[in-house]
Amino acid sequence: MREIIIANWKENPKTAKEAIRLAGETNRRVKNLKNAEVVIAPPHPFLPLVKNRLSNLELGAQDVFLAAPKGRASPSRTGRETICIGEASPRQLKSLGVKYVIIGHSERRALGETDEIINKKAKETLKIGLKVVLCVGEPLSVRRKGRVAAGRFVKNQIRRDLKSISKIKNLLIAYEPIWAIGTGRADKPEDAVEMARFIKESLVISHKSKVRVLYGGSVNSKNARAFLSPKEIDGALVGKKSLKASDFQKIVQSAI
Ligand code: PGA
Repeated sequence: MREIIIANWKENPKTAKEAIRLAGETNRRVKNLKNAEVVIAPPHPFLPLVKNRLSNLELGAQDVFLAAPKGRASPSRTGRETICIGEASPRQLKSLGVKYVIIGHSERRALGETDEIINKKAKETLKIGLKVVLCVGEPLSVRRKGRVAAGRFVKNQIRRDLKSISKIKNLLIAYEPIWAIGTGRADKPEDAVEMARFIKESLVISHKSKVRVLYGGSVNSKNARAFLSPKEIDGALVGKKSLKASDFQKIVQSAI
């Protein structure tokens, strides 16, 4: 099966001009896609500009609308959809050609995003027919207690984030141990494989469905092959090393 490799640009690059250039260069370099589906997830304002430059690659969004937490001022209602000022709804993203939506990234969770909000976002996004990349992962304090504790943490996160979601056909899980994100200190491939297997087994039990699991956290051109080769890991979520097209090209080539 094809690996899925997602470039998570986060809040980069600084200008629209640079985004257009990076999208164009990435699209030009990343050509052989027989074994990999490659997704570019730029900041929201750059989505249409980046889409214009992509002929081989898919478009992703880094997040989707924020439902107002219970008890707060209710968000405006447009038809059946609940949207908040300054946010982008699943339908709006879909209309821009977005295919994948990242939800629950640890940097959003660090801003106070709860499992309840993530659950709501995932539900609405799946309903519109987009693919959801649900990010999960344990902090260092949990990992220090051992792999069993980390597994329990991740399983509970998934259970809460997928509450009352029964159809997970369009769902992917990105396992991103928080301590490995942006630190240059990736997980050991064998530990990531074990976690990916554990996540898959848990979802087969709870949802009777197979799910694809990506690894994220300091993936680079040197370690990519070790993460992408095992059958348990179906792709990668790449942050920093997706910002230079030549680095990202090497990562994608590791899947080929
Ligand atoms: P990184 O980011 O590759 O820079 O560690 C990964 C992510 O945050 O998705």
